[in-house]
Amino acid sequence: MNGINALFDELWKDYTQRLCPSALKIHDMLYEGRPLINDHIALRTFGHEKTGLLRLAAHFIALGYVQKGEYHFKAKKLYACHFEHPDSNYPKVFISELLLKRCSSQLQDTVEDLLEKVDVSLLEEPAFLYNGRMWDIDFNTYQLLANESEYAAWVGAHGFGANHFTISLSHLNNINEIKDVNSILSQAGFSVNTSGGDIKGSPDVYLEQSSTKADTVPVLFNDNARGNIQRMISGGFYEFAKRYPLPTGYLFQGFIEASADKIFESTNK
Ligand code: NI
Repeated sequence: MNGINALFDELWKDYTQRLCPSALKIHDMLYEGRPLINDHIALRTFGHEKTGLLRLAAHFIALGYVQKGEYHFKAKKLYACHFEHPDSNYPKVFISELLLKRCSSQLQDTVEDLLEKVDVSLLEEPAFLYNGRMWDIDFNTYQLLANESEYAAWVGAHGFGANHFTISLSHLNNINEIKDVNSILSQAGFSVNTSGGDIKGSPDVYLEQSSTKADTVPVLFNDNARGNIQRMISGGFYEFAKRYPLPTGYLFQGFIEASADKIFESTNK
């Protein structure tokens, strides 16, 4: 098995076991007898010298990925890039980072404390991308981060791993419309993220997307007084994307900031 498939297999395993177990059921519901095409995965991180997005991207670049679009999410204080492989059968990789310098000094200090324990040598191997948290965090600190940034709290609690995988509707035979996926999900009891509407984007911008609301998953928090305690918090979600051909005839491969901004909110409570 080649390095790219092996890496995505590990990311999928971690995503479905730890962050978004419901993805297995949804995957099976939409399966049409041949492998579903994964449009992209998304990774989240702290924009810190130790863990910045290029640190994550390096492992995809080493496998032949190339940096493409750049995206700014001013209100959420996020910066993101997407990466593509020259072989378009491989999923795109969307990596965002929290711009710590734009956050409060309290948040910066908190994140600095968390990351102090990170052994940078572990970031040189791709395994950290699917191995979760590399630091201890207590529940109070999680809540403190959440008061300022839902994104910071998510990364603080879960660490590294795929925030979502994305089924490409452009490659399905039977289900071709985002609205049809949304109704299949609703009928099966899954919640669709309605922030910014059930469908983000339109054919005019060559990309339509929707997503489930994140699973609620157990996470262990380290509490000095009481030892490890388990809490249920927002984990990962599943996304659906339909891409439209550009005037050149090729499917649009980028992302739409306004849509991605709302997709981030799939992990809101
Ligand atoms: Ni996405």
